[in-house]
Amino acid sequence: MGYEQVRDTDPAVADALVGERQRQEDTLAMIASENHASEAVLEAQSSELTNKYAEGYAGERYYAGCGYADEIEELAIERARGLWGADHVNVQPHSGTQANMGVYLAMLDPGDRILSLELEHGGHLSHGHPANFTGKTYEVEQYEVDPETGYIDYEGLREHAESFDPDIVVSGYSAYPREVDFERIQTAADAADAYHLADIAHITGLVAAGVHESPVGVADFVTGSTHKTIRAGRGGIIMCDEEYADAIDAAVFPGVQGGPLMHNVAGKAVGFGEALTPGFEEYARQVVDNAEALGERLKEHGFSLVSGGTDTHLVLVDLRESHPDTSGTVAEEALEEVGIVLNKNTVPGETRSPFNPSGIRAGTPALTTRGFDEDACRQVADTIYRVVDNPDDESVKAEAAAEVSDLCAEFPLYDREDALVDFE
Ligand SMILES: Cc1ncc(COP(=O)(O)O)c(C=O)c1O
Repeated sequence: MGYEQVRDTDPAVADALVGERQRQEDTLAMIASENHASEAVLEAQSSELTNKYAEGYAGERYYAGCGYADEIEELAIERARGLWGADHVNVQPHSGTQANMGVYLAMLDPGDRILSLELEHGGHLSHGHPANFTGKTYEVEQYEVDPETGYIDYEGLREHAESFDPDIVVSGYSAYPREVDFERIQTAADAADAYHLADIAHITGLVAAGVHESPVGVADFVTGSTHKTIRAGRGGIIMCDEEYADAIDAAVFPGVQGGPLMHNVAGKAVGFGEALTPGFEEYARQVVDNAEALGERLKEHGFSLVSGGTDTHLVLVDLRESHPDTSGTVAEEALEEVGIVLNKNTVPGETRSPFNPSGIRAGTPALTTRGFDEDACRQVADTIYRVVDNPDDESVKAEAAAEVSDLCAEFPLYDREDALVDFE
């Protein structure tokens, strides 16, 4: 795709679009929340459905001409049920945050209480951060990971739930490398007679593939992103039991959204269809194996990992022991220079500021989409080590950039004939 039509009318935007495509081709996307959607998903997302208003739900729209919109939304829902096994699915949330917003609006009143994981310990803004609508609308207290182990302090969470008496307990995280024990969190929610929202934004694909325990059937509400470990294009999703279906649907529309982004719903339908093929389970397993290989090799180089390793798609590196003078920001910037794109991150017990924190977070979903195996991930770990160890050494960085370039050529993405993953 050369964006020829955009170029005809708008060369400046075409240049940026081509530049971004090339950037993705030529660099290693290791931001744990990113992935590469297939050409089929991209095509569906750029379809004429972007023109269509379809307020309401299939069979009950507020506008005429929704026959194909209905068909696509029903396909997306049916496929989501096949992937996660929920009774009720709403595929309309524009994003993971709006999926969470839908649940809060459906079940809480302003001033109600949320108990969620501290942002610095791996939580998400939409779980009650003061800068987010949740922090401004609800009373929020937060639980933490155990400072010794880096694992969720489940016992502390249960005690906290008993003393705080929340209306909803939120599980599911942005920077937590370990398998989440949703049953134990449900016990804490039960102790407080609270709802349980499991936000599986990051692990949606891992759960669908059965490589991470599922909260469906455990938590009252499950929300997710459709573009992280599952490659269905940007968006959100809510799943719940039938008893909450009407409340959730009304909260999404007209509660927090107007017309659904039907082109994105089409992307979700296509991406969910891809994830239902047998190759997806293998992909998800490889994502986790790759993260483990990456983490183990980083440890061999002396890096300290929060919780000592990973069960998921990401590792969280605490630089304070191995590189006390190098912040996450310095590491992120040096790595970006060589084509490794990951993000600075706070770590539990953070001693720097959130804008210049002590950690870096690295994920393997996008590398695995390119076809990376454990060996390739170990090579990346070696390169990360040399760059973080010598962030100002131009010759080290030049060598690292050449290694990244070789890996990109070995595992091509969109632009070449054999590229972008066999989704069969
Ligand atoms: C746990 C969690 N929930 C929600 C979101 C929000 O997703 P979105 O960016 O689609 O709003 C994220 C994003 O990374 C996340 O990590």
